[in-house]
Amino acid sequence: MDVTRRAFVGLAPAVGVALTAGASEIATPLRSASRVHALDGGIHAASADGRRDVELVAKEGWVDLAGSRGWLLAFNGQVPGPLIELAAGDDVRIRLTNQLAEPTNLHFHGLHVPPDGTADNIFLELSPGEAVTYAFRVPASHPAGLYWLHPHLHGLVARQVSLGLAAPVVIRGALDAVAEVAAAREQFLVLQDFELDRSGRPVDPGGRALMAGREGSIVTVSGQRRPAYTIERDGLLRLRLLNASVSRFYRLSLEGHPLHLIATDGGSLASPETLDELLLAPGERRDVLIQGSRDGGSYRLMNLPYNRGSAGMMMGGVVGADSPFELATVVYEGRAASPVDIPQVLGEVERLPAGPVSRTFVLSEAMGMMPGRGMGMRFLINGREFDHARTDARVRLGAVEDWEYVNTTGMDHPMHVHTNAFQRVGPDGQADPAWLDGVVVPARGRVRIRIRFTDFAGMTVQHCHILDHEDLGMMSTVLIEG
Ligand code: C2O
Ligand code: CU
Ligand code: CU
Repeated sequence: MDVTRRAFVGLAPAVGVALTAGASEIATPLRSASRVHALDGGIHAASADGRRDVELVAKEGWVDLAGSRGWLLAFNGQVPGPLIELAAGDDVRIRLTNQLAEPTNLHFHGLHVPPDGTADNIFLELSPGEAVTYAFRVPASHPAGLYWLHPHLHGLVARQVSLGLAAPVVIRGALDAVAEVAAAREQFLVLQDFELDRSGRPVDPGGRALMAGREGSIVTVSGQRRPAYTIERDGLLRLRLLNASVSRFYRLSLEGHPLHLIATDGGSLASPETLDELLLAPGERRDVLIQGSRDGGSYRLMNLPYNRGSAGMMMGGVVGADSPFELATVVYEGRAASPVDIPQVLGEVERLPAGPVSRTFVLSEAMGMMPGRGMGMRFLINGREFDHARTDARVRLGAVEDWEYVNTTGMDHPMHVHTNAFQRVGPDGQADPAWLDGVVVPARGRVRIRIRFTDFAGMTVQHCHILDHEDLGMMSTVLIEG
């Protein structure tokens, strides 16, 4: 282990302490996770009687990125945006000021809150110069987990997210109270990719890249390039992973250590699942424990090649298959005062029972105009592209439904549903008790999910979370009728 790296990572535990130390600190700059003064520059929100107030300003400008700078779109001047910490039962008010030269809005990805009004309403549009306060209550029963927020204005989503507008949202709860989890050193890893020229200015991806889904060659982990995270011998490290990239899939593997999966998108598993590698599609989150079972040393968190399909001749062949590269390092430092084991039990997770209704959503592509780019590809659900004024599916509040996605294209489409989490259904017809809000529908493959619509009526959406595909039409409306 070299000295510079030691100095760099020396303060890593500070953030975990700081985050739990004061309930009033709900938004902290993530990138200081491994630097001094973790809370400087964060949002210090008043949180009297479960009230959480957050100020976000979306603005274009020079932003520190990976030891250099980029001309990006940022929340509060940082990429990724500040970590926003909430608790079940909170009354949340998030004031967004749009200082961009283009319209924008917000979506709270994975949060189980109303899809309308001034809550998680993606149909709101803020003009340049406008401000709006998003307001909602996090249900008292909301699962603890890692969620995130990003703009969701159809046609501009991929652009705005690819330029940096994304912020993690954490909800604390039962999983955090499991003794071993509480004892683990916690780190948030927000995975993003950017395409910038030498001067740090964004490079236009071009029409072909949009069809495949743009990927950037500069991959960052919470705004850093190849950060190092420390682990104690006999201790636990908790990595909270969020794929905030527009199209890039990550296939993660840590040298010399299995990954102990403890939570998926929508919260805790019943007990940890041991994995050699983990696939993280755009929008998805996973929570893993690493056990400090080695004597010492430095181990690379690798991104392994993943082929997410062939976009066909028009789009230039195979997409997404990189050679392996290092995303981050896990470095041993010190020894736990007393050894901590991987927990056996995390909590109870309900298995969704089969419901009476099932529907099929066919994912396809067609030739069509791409705005500002001439002829290209459009992406469709059940033969149609997104129209906010059309109701594509009507579901009953309280119902459980099985949805089957049928992918007729040569590319994977990671489908995502707003408002309610779901479970994946296996070949035996049983739901896997792990809460998700995204699922990869493989090229030419099918996937069945089971979803229950609870608490909130209103118009919501589902879409491919390759955000270029969403912008090019692969989104549909779902009306939840009370
Ligand atoms: Cu993160 Cu509708 O998306
Ligand atoms: Cu979402
Ligand atoms: Cu897609």
